[in-house]
Amino acid sequence: MRLTILGGGGFRVPLVYQALLGDRGEGRITSVVLYDADRARLASIGAVLRQQAAGVTDAPVVTETTDLDEALRGADFVFSAIRVGGLEGRTVDERVALDLGVLGQETVGAGGIAYGLRTLPVAVGIAQRVAAVAPEAWVINFTNPAGMVTEAMIPYLGDRVIGICDSPSGLGRRAALAIGVDPSTAFYDYAGLNHLGWLRGLRSGGVDRLPSLLASAEGLASFEEGRLFGVEWLRSLGAIPNEYLHYYYFARETLAAVQGVRQTRGTFLLEQQSAFYAETARRPEQALELWQKTRAERESTYMVESREVADAGERDERDMAAGGYEQVALSLMRAIAHNERASLILNVRNRGVLRHLDDDAVVEIPCTVDANGALPVSVSQLTDHQAGLVCSVKAVERSTIEAAAGGSRAAALRAFAWHPLIDSVTAAGKLLDAYATQLPALAPFRP
Ligand code: G6P
Ligand code: MN
Repeated sequence: MRLTILGGGGFRVPLVYQALLGDRGEGRITSVVLYDADRARLASIGAVLRQQAAGVTDAPVVTETTDLDEALRGADFVFSAIRVGGLEGRTVDERVALDLGVLGQETVGAGGIAYGLRTLPVAVGIAQRVAAVAPEAWVINFTNPAGMVTEAMIPYLGDRVIGICDSPSGLGRRAALAIGVDPSTAFYDYAGLNHLGWLRGLRSGGVDRLPSLLASAEGLASFEEGRLFGVEWLRSLGAIPNEYLHYYYFARETLAAVQGVRQTRGTFLLEQQSAFYAETARRPEQALELWQKTRAERESTYMVESREVADAGERDERDMAAGGYEQVALSLMRAIAHNERASLILNVRNRGVLRHLDDDAVVEIPCTVDANGALPVSVSQLTDHQAGLVCSVKAVERSTIEAAAGGSRAAALRAFAWHPLIDSVTAAGKLLDAYATQLPALAPFRP
């Protein structure tokens, strides 16, 4: 089996390769093709992978290329994990928004829209090339904003593109462990959009254990989302939100916190990652060690502002060690390749499951996966509150897709203005103008 990784020079690629090295089963991935536009990054990550493979018999063979069609030809699975505009782009996404008084974040709010506007045309181009060159391949989309990117690729790939994120499974795992349930045996009644969902039930042995978790202040205080949102709010909601909902429920406080830092997340990562790639080019024999050190620092500072707002303390060691998106990706590939039925929370078409959304809306929802792909299973309906937020943000995603497809300024303006975290049409217009001025890819939206 061949896996092609688009964005193969990306920093998290060794996590995927590590997961592949642990997969000894028949029909496993034996060949990995790394594709990236940047040769130097490919060389650095290639060096890390070779060191990971040292001493492992039958480690998947790694090749590198900067030619997209060559990378896609013969692929059984394609992971798309690209960052259009790089971390430089991320810093602009954040900074423009913060300077105009709204949240500046990678995927949520104004930053996510700007990121979507420059990423969607590239993602659509990739979908077209996959459809032409590797029509049988399954595309696993990690590229953020993952929900809207997946939705934009579906017209070219149908249900052969599936979006993934590590946040829902992480939430499920943490909630299960907090009440002593084996995470792999539970059913998670989770629904929403990517980075905008809620865990509304956690069934184990035929019993919904979420009420008992909500009743236990100690249980709630024992994991990340419990600490972020607090006992009173979680009991009032009757559900546990995805960590990214912290930006909505505590919008003022998170905005102030993000505005108050010396460096935004993007600026921090730009510095950290540039140093990693430069250092690895100088000392390739130490690539793996440098990568491990850099990764530990990246993980420990994840969502630090939100944790400070909530006084939630340090990240849990178990969360930093536990497999994130690479485990979701590997489970998904195995289920498809081996026709081994698995239940995973994925970004797929709604197909009538959530009645507030149409069939083609990409939602984040538990799915049954086998050789035929991923099918959403029935979950509780969204409450009025959940549906309100989900439908608003879906409208934002779709306006962004429309804007990116045709360069329509009107659609782009709607996307910013409709976002629940952007409180005025005037601000939306200023955001659009500032992004269009500062991001070359957004030049078509200049007034
Ligand atoms: C989580 C999210 C990803 C996001 C990442 C950001 O894993 O699910 O969608 O890209 O965090 O982490 P970073 O270290 O880049 O801030
Ligand atoms: Mn994610």
